[in-house]
Amino acid sequence: MMRIAVLVSGNGSNLQALLDAGLSGEIVGVMSNKADAYALQRAQHANIASVIIEHKAYPDRESFDQVMQQQLLDWQVDLVILAGFMRILSPKFVAQWQGRMLNIHPSLLPAYKGMHTHQRVLHSGERYHGCTVHFVTAELDAGQAIAQAVLEIKPHDTAQSLAQRVHQMEHFIYPQAVEWVCRGDIQFIDQQVHYRGQVLTHPIQFAALH
Ligand code: GAR
Repeated sequence: MMRIAVLVSGNGSNLQALLDAGLSGEIVGVMSNKADAYALQRAQHANIASVIIEHKAYPDRESFDQVMQQQLLDWQVDLVILAGFMRILSPKFVAQWQGRMLNIHPSLLPAYKGMHTHQRVLHSGERYHGCTVHFVTAELDAGQAIAQAVLEIKPHDTAQSLAQRVHQMEHFIYPQAVEWVCRGDIQFIDQQVHYRGQVLTHPIQFAALH
């Protein structure tokens, strides 16, 4: 069974979706860089080990990442899941987890990398928005995509309503993508994503029906 660590910084609704999904992997630990992240309470309620590693306590990114790395090794983790983890990771840390670390990002990558995606998408007058699950590489939000959920932007949408609708889809596609990895349906081979033995040239797409 795959041993999974989930890295969080905030509310942790994606952590909750993963906890509720009944994955065939085991979530063995939750790590937060923020002491007040509500995600920590979710871990506690689910009886899962959690640690706070505050980036502010370390002089640089490398030393912070080294402490995280040691904790992941102590937990004997196979798969690292970033779920609203809002720190950029050092290239060395990312390299150690190549093909074994996933992130979810609130946009249809490669469009709208970075922050404040909902506002930016609205301001640009886009017709579609969504979220993407991808493997993590050293370049921010640029790793190989596994799955995407797409929704159509409606005239009355605000950044808040979009955030809410995107979140709902995240809670659906993230557990699905993690389960594929746990079961070996998704594999990372030679820098490419394979789905059931075939190279995945486009992320697997889901559409919202409303
Ligand atoms: C999610 O919308 C996730 O896509 C986003 O943070 C939110 C966390 O929500 N992640 C990023 O923006 C990563 N760059 P949650 O704490 O309720 O899971």
